[in-house]
Amino acid sequence: MFSATCVAPVNMALVKYWGKRNEELILPINDSISMTLDANEMSAKTTVCASESFKENRMWLNGDVVPFEENARLMRCLEGVQRLALANGAQRFPLSWKLHIASYNNFPTAAGLASSAAGYACLVYTLARLYEIPMNEELTTIARQGSGSACRSLYGGFVQWHRGTTEDGRDSIAEQLVPAEHWPEMHMLILVVNDARKKTASTKGMQLAVNTSTLIQHRAKEIVPQRIKELKSAIQSRDFKTFAEITMKESNQLHAIALDTYPPCVYMNDVSHAIVNFVHDYNESVGSLQAAYTFDAGPNACLYVLAENVPKLLAAIQLAFPNDSQQSVEYVKGIPVPPVETEKCNTNGSVGHVYSKNMLKYIIHTKIGNGPHQLSDEKSLLIDGLPLPK
Ligand code: DP6
Repeated sequence: MFSATCVAPVNMALVKYWGKRNEELILPINDSISMTLDANEMSAKTTVCASESFKENRMWLNGDVVPFEENARLMRCLEGVQRLALANGAQRFPLSWKLHIASYNNFPTAAGLASSAAGYACLVYTLARLYEIPMNEELTTIARQGSGSACRSLYGGFVQWHRGTTEDGRDSIAEQLVPAEHWPEMHMLILVVNDARKKTASTKGMQLAVNTSTLIQHRAKEIVPQRIKELKSAIQSRDFKTFAEITMKESNQLHAIALDTYPPCVYMNDVSHAIVNFVHDYNESVGSLQAAYTFDAGPNACLYVLAENVPKLLAAIQLAFPNDSQQSVEYVKGIPVPPVETEKCNTNGSVGHVYSKNMLKYIIHTKIGNGPHQLSDEKSLLIDGLPLPK
């Protein structure tokens, strides 16, 4: 039996991927840029085992069986990596050996945070390690076919996914712009919003947008190329002000396109809009852009903020969004935040408006991080090809 176990990070888009030009190959209508998040707080972990004795390919996600052979996206990832292994002269074991795969997310899937990106990136990366394929950009074209945004999780730091122009998508690759060490002060507060509604999945939402929105092509052709250029230069020069402005405008435009979709897709809720107002008020009160929000296809807010400004921003959030669980250690998860005195926060002109209680479920404090990595065999999620008991 051969096996590999790896961890892959979540990424959060700054310039958003929204809309495909090819549904099957997952080719986007525009480039996107994301930041990879530290795997300590949020990541997927996957073990893949290959054995001559396995009768069929099997997969478990968070301990539950998932149909594998019926899932076109999973199969395309597996076949893609196997094709590469063949081209690389795979020697380790016959490609006909069946696989057992177990994958876990280290953060609550219920939070509606980008779990599929980390999941597919981890699957492709772990398969590549198993078949002894070195990391290369072709792997990003394979992860892309699992879930578009997954291609960006194969690198750390800031990453650009190029839309590409070829029909077969071979140039629709992800590329690292700068590693995490380029801007290690880049942190994030994720405000997980209390929300019971079921969201329209991204895949459906963007498909409907391409078919019905009259604004989306203008965005892809005219707006995004310019924003990509400006954001890349802001990242290079660590210009947080420009970075923040583009990020917030991008998030707003994604949700404007979602509303221009017919029937409209509503991802942000009243709490999300309260957070948007809060961030603008906060930036005004501190006299510069210190926090930048972005929202994906759901109500949770991701706030980009430099490390030195985290304590003050968090204190202002706690004042504006009071919560019964505020004192609980579970309320602010992730990297510990040193406390600031409340008065200091007020004299800094912190936001006056206090929203109603318990609008937030919890907060995660994380930061920029590296790409996937392999773990030692002892960290396996499978014993003799079967998942560890929960
Ligand atoms: C709003 O990558 O989940 O997070 O390719 O259909 O699987 P599929 O979609 P997915 O879409 C992500 C959309 C987004 C923006 C982004 O991550 O760029």
